[in-house]
Amino acid sequence: MQGVTVVDHPLVQHKLTLMRDKQRSTKGFRQLLNEIGMLLCYEVTRDLPMERIEIETPMTTMEGAQIAGKKLVLAPILRAGVGFLDGMLTLVPAARVAHIGLYRDPESLQAVEYYFKAPSDLADRMVLVLDPMLATANSAVAAIERLKERGAKDLRFVCLLAAPEGIERLRSAHPDVHIWTAAIDERLNDHGYIVPGLGDAGDRMYGTR
Ligand code: PRP
Ligand code: URA
Repeated sequence: MQGVTVVDHPLVQHKLTLMRDKQRSTKGFRQLLNEIGMLLCYEVTRDLPMERIEIETPMTTMEGAQIAGKKLVLAPILRAGVGFLDGMLTLVPAARVAHIGLYRDPESLQAVEYYFKAPSDLADRMVLVLDPMLATANSAVAAIERLKERGAKDLRFVCLLAAPEGIERLRSAHPDVHIWTAAIDERLNDHGYIVPGLGDAGDRMYGTR
């Protein structure tokens, strides 16, 4: 599918299956999301631009490689997107963080914003938008619109599960934003939940059901 990368690494797929299991504890669910966040971060940063710098080892001077440009911005959509954050910050500890508070209205399924705080220089940085679930894509589309309003030009979207309907909507609203996901599920149900899915990611992460 154009514009979408499915991360089919065995570790990701194994951990995802553990997360889908409805018997998984809150603690286990959170820990697995953190671990998968790390693995997805590795994949989504695979093609970051590099530059050469001269360094001195204890033996001699040499040219080494380093990531070029300004630090990345990690932009979790609250609440569930926060589940990816620690794992990704473990790999990219100097990243900046933009918090985007959105909830889905249960009737209309529209995204309602309640918080937004981002670094001021988004235009100069790559932004990774994080949310485990891409269902209708209302949340992802709204978050990306907001980041673009604030200057972001280079964005990537990282999720755990995507519905085909959500992929289509996000790709048509923001064709410049590539999607990384661990799986593409079958469909949405009448309440906008991903099937087979894993239920409500925020509630499972925080034990709030
Ligand atoms: C969930 C999920 C996404 C959104 C996806 O959040 O974490 O943000 O739904 O659905 P969509 O693609 O149809 O917009 P929710 O609104 O339940 O908030 P929460 O993370 O605080 O539980
Ligand atoms: N949000 C979730 O947390 N799960 C879904 O299946 C859809 C939206």
